[in-house]
Amino acid sequence: VISSRDFTPAETRFVLAAAKALEHETRPLLRGRILATLFFEPSTRTRLSFEAAMQRLGGACLGFADAAVSSTAKGESLHDTVRVVEGYCDALVIRHPREGAARVAAEATRLPVLNGGDGSNQHPTQTFIDLYTIQEACGRVDGLHIGFLGDLKYGRAAHGLVAAAATLGNRVTLISPPDLRLPPSLLEELHETAPEKPRQVVDLAPALKDLDVLYVTRIQQERFADPLEFERVRHAYRVDRRTVESAKRRLAVLHPLPRVREIDTDVDSMEGALYFKQAHHGVTVRKALLCLLLGVMP
Ligand code: NCD
Repeated sequence: VISSRDFTPAETRFVLAAAKALEHETRPLLRGRILATLFFEPSTRTRLSFEAAMQRLGGACLGFADAAVSSTAKGESLHDTVRVVEGYCDALVIRHPREGAARVAAEATRLPVLNGGDGSNQHPTQTFIDLYTIQEACGRVDGLHIGFLGDLKYGRAAHGLVAAAATLGNRVTLISPPDLRLPPSLLEELHETAPEKPRQVVDLAPALKDLDVLYVTRIQQERFADPLEFERVRHAYRVDRRTVESAKRRLAVLHPLPRVREIDTDVDSMEGALYFKQAHHGVTVRKALLCLLLGVMP
């Protein structure tokens, strides 16, 4: 599971259906199986929900949450780390600051590899969680109008979801500061896949009116080469109760989290605020991905 682009709409729907089927599953389907978690970048949700998914189904985890305590600190290559760890586990999840790192890891082993985020490129298990959340809230994952807000240049969660959402047949509106627009190659791809040409705008208020879903993202401070560039855009958007109320339809507000200041806490109690539910769906969706990859789907 390296990129959301590797999945056809039918395959994506198959994963979402598997997740629904495993929502309340607690039988030890993964007993005796071990997942290795190789995290070269900070994480809360991704690593812990993978661990929860394994443990809920009777499996176990090993790994590291900080590259500084692994042999990477001694100069070991990612390829070698994977070749070693494959002898200790049945599947690997990897998060890495370099784009393409998950693909490199997958090529080094015959075991299933899940991309837990590679630089600003992709975060495909998050994409499945986002789609699952949209399916639960809106009853479908096509024919919707989805707005993407914030850091569309560096945000891998946005990159993964926008590609999948367009391919599934959703209208897309891209709302960002001019300096944080979607990478040109991804925008070009959307021109081919989305049912309508995506709109690119700077202001949130006018874009809100006919959205079904607003996907809010954090400005990815750690990806900026120039701290001054970050300072210029760090407070670009703030979604509050008034913003959500001004949307025409009942707006579903998603965010992969962590949030910094881009969603005011006064939104949390609103009906459309789905981001904590979304984080909890991480366990359900990762249970399904692990069962499918390890061949134990009931
Ligand atoms: C995201 C990530 O790491 O890309 N977090 C997550 O996995 N839910 C989003 C972010 O860091 O902004």
